[in-house]
Amino acid sequence: MICAVKQRIDVQADTLQSALGKKAYNYSLSYKSLHKLEKIVNSQYDIRTNALQFIFGKKNTFKGFDHNNISRLIKDLQVIKPEMSNPAMDNKIDGWINKAQVMLDHKVQAQEKIKNLTAEEANWLVIHKGSNAFIYKHEDFVIKKQKNINEISAQHEVAMCNKYNHAHGREAEALYKRNLIQMPYIENKGALTTHDIQKAVVKMAEKGFFMADARPSNFVKTTKGEVVPVDFRLVYTNRDLNNLDAKIQKEIVNAYVNVGYRCIPAALKGAYRMHIAQIDKHLKQDSPLRYVNTMLTSRASVKHI
Ligand SMILES: Nc1ncnc2c1ncn2[C@@H]1O[C@H](COP(=O)(O)OP(=O)(O)OP(=O)(O)O)[C@@H](O)[C@H]1O
Ligand SMILES: [Mg+2]
Repeated sequence: MICAVKQRIDVQADTLQSALGKKAYNYSLSYKSLHKLEKIVNSQYDIRTNALQFIFGKKNTFKGFDHNNISRLIKDLQVIKPEMSNPAMDNKIDGWINKAQVMLDHKVQAQEKIKNLTAEEANWLVIHKGSNAFIYKHEDFVIKKQKNINEISAQHEVAMCNKYNHAHGREAEALYKRNLIQMPYIENKGALTTHDIQKAVVKMAEKGFFMADARPSNFVKTTKGEVVPVDFRLVYTNRDLNNLDAKIQKEIVNAYVNVGYRCIPAALKGAYRMHIAQIDKHLKQDSPLRYVNTMLTSRASVKHI
């Protein structure tokens, strides 16, 4: 029931309907009221702040959200809207409904895309299910389908794979298409040790390639017994380092500090440390080293300047 008396929203006691009822005669909403509404919607519909900030117009983008929760919110707003006593509030609620609808449409489109791929994928063999990606084998290729694909990172991964293969006299066949990365398949012949990875890292460095997340799952042992990289996401060359996208630079630093440094042989640690220092200097205030726990930085022998 809409109440005509102007009242304050009570985050603990109000529902979305009663809170909006208190503002039914308002011609605008203060920042404070909007913030309170955000809190109420967050707990009543279990919608994350990030998504709510999109709906309430504070942000232009949104991340993950639950389809059902947003649908519920839309439905309730549609019921509440006719109870508003002035066009200003009516318009406001309309705007929120439209924004929430944009989110739902976006999700439907994304699901359609995945659906289209599924028929094709039925012929692909899943060879790895990672936390962030599915790796399929299809003919002589692997196809990497990442959950949250970033186009710049994907293009970097493809470019590095091609550069690496080119440097080894192989065809540059990796490509990025329709949110998928395609790379030559390498038959995997056996388990890897840290020592294998160290030797592979040395061989890579001989050709000018470095790998920030050097660990067994990012390499395979070929039928000839050679250990080669298969994950080029955080592979870089000395010359590219400063020109890399900041997101990739940050990932390089984080990966090296958290895991990568362990598989780097002593003879190469100096070079890697120099690269991390170079990125740190380049990113200045944005360098991840500013925030990394000192226990980790001292273990990896790097520090923020
Ligand atoms: N080109 C390839 N040829 C053969 N196997 C591959 C290839 N690329 C990836 N794989 C297989 O998939 C696994 C994971 O690959 P990759 O590291 O690229 O994916 P990821 O999503 O980063 O997974 P993780 O987080 O486990 O490293 C590899 O350990 C390997 O077994
Ligand atoms: Mg990997």
